[in-house]
Amino acid sequence: MNTLAGRLIRWQVRHGRHHLPWQRTRDPYRILLSEVMLQQTQVATVIPYYRRFLARFPDVGSLAGAQLDDVLALWSGLGYYSRARNLHAAAQTVMESHSGRFPQTREMLASLPGVGRSTAAAIAVFAFGKREAILEGNAKRVLARHFAVRGYPGERRIEDRLWRLAESQLPRKNIERYTQALMDLGAGLCTRTRPACASCPLRASCEARAQGKTQAYPQPRPRRTLPKRKTSMLLLLREGEVLLEKRPPVGLWGGLWCLPEMPLGADPHDYCGRRFGAKLASARRLPLLRHGFTHFTLNITPVVCHVAGASPCVSEPGQVWLAPDDAVWAAVPAPVRKLLAALQIR
Ligand code: ADE
Repeated sequence: MNTLAGRLIRWQVRHGRHHLPWQRTRDPYRILLSEVMLQQTQVATVIPYYRRFLARFPDVGSLAGAQLDDVLALWSGLGYYSRARNLHAAAQTVMESHSGRFPQTREMLASLPGVGRSTAAAIAVFAFGKREAILEGNAKRVLARHFAVRGYPGERRIEDRLWRLAESQLPRKNIERYTQALMDLGAGLCTRTRPACASCPLRASCEARAQGKTQAYPQPRPRRTLPKRKTSMLLLLREGEVLLEKRPPVGLWGGLWCLPEMPLGADPHDYCGRRFGAKLASARRLPLLRHGFTHFTLNITPVVCHVAGASPCVSEPGQVWLAPDDAVWAAVPAPVRKLLAALQIR
């Protein structure tokens, strides 16, 4: 058959990936875990995290019974920690509302926390062999190019059109291989920049290629200037250890370990005296660090403060003193990790 699906399926047999750690299993828990990790992270980064996570939480019951802190610690470095919080909540939902057995339909899977339509479809396909369409980043790029779909896929109308196309191409058989083929083609050949069209099984019918405009699809997010926020973060050092504080469970960086923040323009000596009862031997600014969130940009002024030798310094619940080598392994957000890494090499 020379359908799009037929060509993709034949290509996957010869050129696709067959030995990823989450392949050759039908365990919905493992598939959920891999799909959630892969939502915003590359395969090569995910593999060691996936293995460690499974070694610690081998099944949905063990994850549901875990402390969130332990789950976040295993996620440390993968970023987008709301994925870990949702995964933990999803495991609890499976245990409490579904007697420990995963629901099998795409619709019911999508009711689990953190499981969107495409992730639900991937689980329905890989764990239960259901005939469902995915539309994650790879599939989106392949379809937007093949059918020359104009417009930004983050827009509802464009996304709906891509979903309809995705559903229209599903094969009657081999849904698992077809789904994997879309992911493999998008990750390996139909890449965002410089796609390898010469080796592509869809090259004869690809409209973007016919137009000589593969780069134009899918259209990138329209550039907006994001609002800026500013803060100052303290790298408070005492006897070779740095102070971390746990954020409240909800809100930005909820439940993660962060550096204490100080209002911009405050004097570090005064501030640390009042807040921590500490006398500083020195306080020195580091270069500005910029961190992009989806809805704003955070400009961070880091300040390295050394607590004077004899000075006391508070240690309250929700605060820990850690050696920078250990602190980088805690569940910390990306910019905090960068600052801690800068301390390590000093
Ligand atoms: N990206 C998202 N899901 C994936 C999977 N199951 N295999 C490879 N890459 C993926």
